[in-house]
Amino acid sequence: MLDGQKVSFSGVQPSGNLTIGNYLGAIKNFAEYSEKYKTFYGVVDEHAITVRQNPAELRRRTYETLALYIAVGLDPEKNTLYVQSHVPAHAELAWILNCYCMFGELSRMTQFKDKSARHADNINAGLFTYPVLMASDILLYQTDVVPIGSDQKQHVELTRNIADRFNQIFPDTFTVPEPVIPKSGGRIMSLAEPEKKMSKSDENENATVRVLDDRDTIIRKFRRAVTDSGSEIRRSPDKPGVSNLITIYSCFTGKTPEEVEAEFDGRGYAEFKTAVGEACADALAPVREKYFELLADKGYLEEVMKKGAGTAAYYARKTLSKVRRKIGFVNL
Ligand code: TRP
Repeated sequence: MLDGQKVSFSGVQPSGNLTIGNYLGAIKNFAEYSEKYKTFYGVVDEHAITVRQNPAELRRRTYETLALYIAVGLDPEKNTLYVQSHVPAHAELAWILNCYCMFGELSRMTQFKDKSARHADNINAGLFTYPVLMASDILLYQTDVVPIGSDQKQHVELTRNIADRFNQIFPDTFTVPEPVIPKSGGRIMSLAEPEKKMSKSDENENATVRVLDDRDTIIRKFRRAVTDSGSEIRRSPDKPGVSNLITIYSCFTGKTPEEVEAEFDGRGYAEFKTAVGEACADALAPVREKYFELLADKGYLEEVMKKGAGTAAYYARKTLSKVRRKIGFVNL
């Protein structure tokens, strides 16, 4: 809680082009909190550098991610939208929390295991302690809820453990946050290999649909989506491809999966896949339009960054100064 209001916090890395998995699984839900919660949404550039980035691209994507936040409906007047590295308290608290997080806990993080396998030439210490930086992001704002995709659940569980441990030693320091994962949409699968999560870093472009893909590309990718044997359009563990498309269609149209099954009863895969593509393209068209308009105005995006960093730093400093006092650092 901050100022008597519940807090929602989440972050998106400015790396790679966001997919409809990121959108349906997380970002689309951020806006739901704007009315009732105090909301903080970060462009987490410090997380991004745990894998090698091209500097010019990182900078460009930082603007792009912020523009996308606004384009999907986050009003900068109602949400604190900011860039993580503009608020030094994140890195400071991360150092402190590193000393309250165990090596063994971090060794069990599945994302670390996956990423270190994928980037075997660069298993740096930052990649290992990345979840502690994420815990700092969340705990700095006394966060109540963290809307995320299911792949980040383990990191929020770790955040809760760190908060509990710290609060045991120094009572009433941090709010212990809850992860919120959308019931459907929390796990959008690859269109090419529907057993795997859709990933923005997938090298096969047909596996992912990007939020900013144009209409024809979106429809083409859905037409090529892998479906399963048989011809029925219904959800089933042995039909991962079709089940995934039903989830996507349902998220974009607001229909329940049962309604989708009824709508396409007796119709073929080809017709269904085209319908999913069109629904997705229709839903994303206004986002794309707004996004390109925003990107053309860097001055405006920088104003949003500045204002967001100011607000975020104000609240972050309060928590950080409490932490410093509790652990015995001299506050001047
Ligand atoms: N680790 C998250 C991801 O890769 C991004 C992130 C960083 C985040 N800090 C966060 C998400 C705090 C939620 C809360 O997707």
